[in-house]
Formats: sequence, structure tokens, C-alpha cells
Amino acid sequence: MARISIFAVALALASAVSAQCGAGTPDATVTGSGGSFTAKRGSNNVYTGSDYGAAIQAALDSISGGQRVAVMASGSIGTRTISISSGKIFEGCGTIDVGNRSGRGAIESLDTTDVKIPYLSMTGNPYFGLRFYGTRNLSLGQINMNLSGGLGIRFDRDHAANSNVSMDVINVRGAGSHAVETWNIDGLTINSVIARNVGECGLLIQNTRNAKVGLVDGENVATGNGYATFRMANTNGQLADGSYGTNVYINKVKSRGGGRGVFCVSQSGGAEIKEVDLANNGNNAILIENCYNVKILGGVVNGGGEVRMSARSEFANSRDISVTLTVNDNTVRESPCGENTTWKLSGNGKWNIC
Ligand SMILES: *[C@@H]1O[C@H](CO)[C@@H](O)[C@H](O)[C@H]1NC(C)=O
Ligand SMILES: *[C@@H]1O[C@H](CO)[C@@H](O)[C@H](O)[C@H]1NC(C)=O
Ligand SMILES: *[C@@H]1O[C@H](CO)[C@@H](O)[C@H](O)[C@H]1NC(C)=O
Ligand SMILES: *[C@@H]1O[C@H](CO)[C@@H](O)[C@H](O)[C@H]1NC(C)=O
Ligand SMILES: *[C@@H]1O[C@H](CO)[C@@H](O)[C@H](O)[C@H]1NC(C)=O
Repeated sequence: MARISIFAVALALASAVSAQCGAGTPDATVTGSGGSFTAKRGSNNVYTGSDYGAAIQAALDSISGGQRVAVMASGSIGTRTISISSGKIFEGCGTIDVGNRSGRGAIESLDTTDVKIPYLSMTGNPYFGLRFYGTRNLSLGQINMNLSGGLGIRFDRDHAANSNVSMDVINVRGAGSHAVETWNIDGLTINSVIARNVGECGLLIQNTRNAKVGLVDGENVATGNGYATFRMANTNGQLADGSYGTNVYINKVKSRGGGRGVFCVSQSGGAEIKEVDLANNGNNAILIENCYNVKILGGVVNGGGEVRMSARSEFANSRDISVTLTVNDNTVRESPCGENTTWKLSGNGKWNIC
């Protein structure tokens, strides 16, 4: 009997482990600690020595497309950039501490297809923790960044566009800039972005279309500046023909404290936010400025900075904005008047709308 139950426990543990970082038989591994690391492909050593970053890159360079590296060791890569080429699967199971290489990512995948990073745990103050451009079929899984500065995940503005990018659960603490910043993605799916004590945005999406996001959740994000837990900017949601049919779907934005809650600006739109839950934002709980076809379908704002629809003269006025919202202990202002604005407001707030 004892044997059987131990066997059952072992089976249960094995199946629990199989959904974890480094589970099964990775094609290559990085193990070790302190000043001694080994990278192996199968049973062959491809690196032994004191340079953690060199061990990781050697493991990645030893595999081919469709194969997987598991970095079991923790260590510091300093200001090195780890580069992931097409088709490779990278699991960061140990904690990868990183430094600041100006303009570069600690880990990059540039002009690639079918790269997957199912797990990653990162600390340090990177210029960019993860940096991408020109990717297709990129998949990010459970990404945990506990940073002391820098920007978490960045898709570049001035390089090739991306298509079909997915992210599961992205947790970023302590970034000095944004937790996640995208440019130029057609086809983006995110389960959740959870940002804590982040200097600028939790999720900032720009010139990105056909996006579906579950939850954006920020606490103490963008304190003292004009950024927001969730910001859409720079023609986000504008379709290829210049129109703004709804193509960006957000299930929920939750924000506590910090700067703005939700911010749409600079000719963005084509967006529908099913629910907001915003409280005590230090700047506008919601600001919609020169945006087109934005719908907020429900939710609540408690206190914080004014809910505002505005426009700057450099772009066409806001139009086709529809907001259904409970606003307590706060004000709502539409100035200047947008074109075709619909407000359905409730709560104890005060409004000055057109
Ligand atoms: C993206 O993934 C799909 C499905 O696996 C595949 O058919 C397609 O070729 C991939 N695209 C690229 C550019 O790798
Ligand atoms: C998008 O990429 C994922 C891998 O991240 C792949 O499974 C899926 O088939 C791709 N979809 C298309 C339409 O290429
Ligand atoms: C993040 O790092 C800080 C400083 O090293 C540490 O105190 C904290 O426990 C870490 N938090 C998490 C969630 O890992
Ligand atoms: C990284 O270094 C650059 C200068 O090269 C500096 O401007 C930037 O603030 C640094 N970032 C972090 C996160 O330390
Ligand atoms: C007014 O805006 C709503 C979205 O709030 C849109 O469905 C409708 O088509 C717009 N009406 C006109 C006349 O453009």
C-alpha cells in the first residue's frame, strides 16, 4: 500500500511539474551557479565557464528551429544582449539579472518567425528587458520582471512591423519607464498585463491593430506624469485604409493611484473597453483626446482626476466616442465638444458635457 501511494504521489508531482519551466527534456540546458556555468545540448557541453550570458547564448546557438533551451541557472548577464533566432523556444527558469545596454534589449528577437518564450524571470535595470521588431508568430508566456528601472517589453518604432504576437501573463514591477510598449503590431493577443510601481505606462499600444487584451491592471503606475495604466497612442487602432472600425478589444482596465487610468491620444481609436475599474488616479481617470470610435461599455470611476474628453488643434477633433460609466466623487468634462459623443453617466459625480 505504502508503495502504491508513493507512486501515486510521484505521478501527481510529475504531472504538476510537466506544466512548468524546464519540464520534460529540453534540447539544451544551462545549469550551474556562482561563477561556474555549463551549457549542454543533449549530453554534449557547448559551454563551460564563468560567463552566464555566454552560456545562455551558446545553448541557444546550439539548437535549431522548433527546439527548446531551458535556463535552469540564475545569474547575471551584465550588459550583454541575448539573441533568439527564428523558431527557437526559450525558457528562463532561473532568475536572469540584466544590465543597461543603451538602446538595446537584454534579450532580443529581431526579424524572426515562430519564437516562443514560455517562461522568463528577470531582474535588473535594462534599457529594454525584452526587445522585438519584425516578428511573426511570436509567443510570450508567463513573464515576470522585478526591475529596478528601465523598460520591460518593447516593440520598436523604427523597424519592421510585427504580426500575430501573443502574450499570456506579463507581470512587471519597478520599471522606470513602461511595463509593455508596442509599436507596429497587426494581430496582438494579451491575457493580462499586471504593472506595479511602474514609472510610465502599464500597457502602451501604438500603431497596433487587431488587438485583444484581457486585463490591464496597474497600481502606482505613472505617478506624477501624463502616462497611464493603459494608453493608446500614435494611430493605434487605425486600419490600413485609414478608417477606425472597431478592432481593438479590451476586456478590463483596473487602475489604482498613479497617474492616469485610461488615456487615448493622437489619432487612435477603433477600440472597445468592456469595463473600467479606476480609483484615486492622480491625473485624469480617463482622458480621450483626438480619438475616433472609442467605446467604454461600463464600469466605475471612484475619485481621482477628472474624466475628460478634449482635443488639441493639431489633429481632427474627437468623434464617435461613447462612454457608459458610473462616476463617483469626480467630475466629467467634454471640452471642446466632440462630434457624435454619447454619454451614459450615473453616480454622484458632476458633469459638464455637450
Ligand atoms: C505562423 O504560424 C502558422 C501556424 O502555425 C504557420 O502556418 C505560418 O506559416 C507561420 N508564419 C510564419 C511567418 O512563420
Ligand atoms: C500565431 O502564432 C501562434 C504561435 O504563437 C500559432 O500557433 C498560430 O497558429 C499563429 N496564427 C496564425 C494565424 O498564423
Ligand atoms: C522584487 O525585488 C525586490 C528587491 O530585490 C524584493 O525585495 C522583492 O521581494 C521582489 N518582489 C518580487 C515579487 O519578487
Ligand atoms: C541606461 O543608460 C542610459 C545612458 O546610456 C541612461 O540614459 C538610462 O537612463 C539608463 N537606464 C537605466 C534603466 O538605468
Ligand atoms: C456615432 O458614434 C457611434 C459610436 O459611438 C457609431 O456607432 C455611429 O455610427 C456614429 N454615428 C455617425 C452618424 O457617425
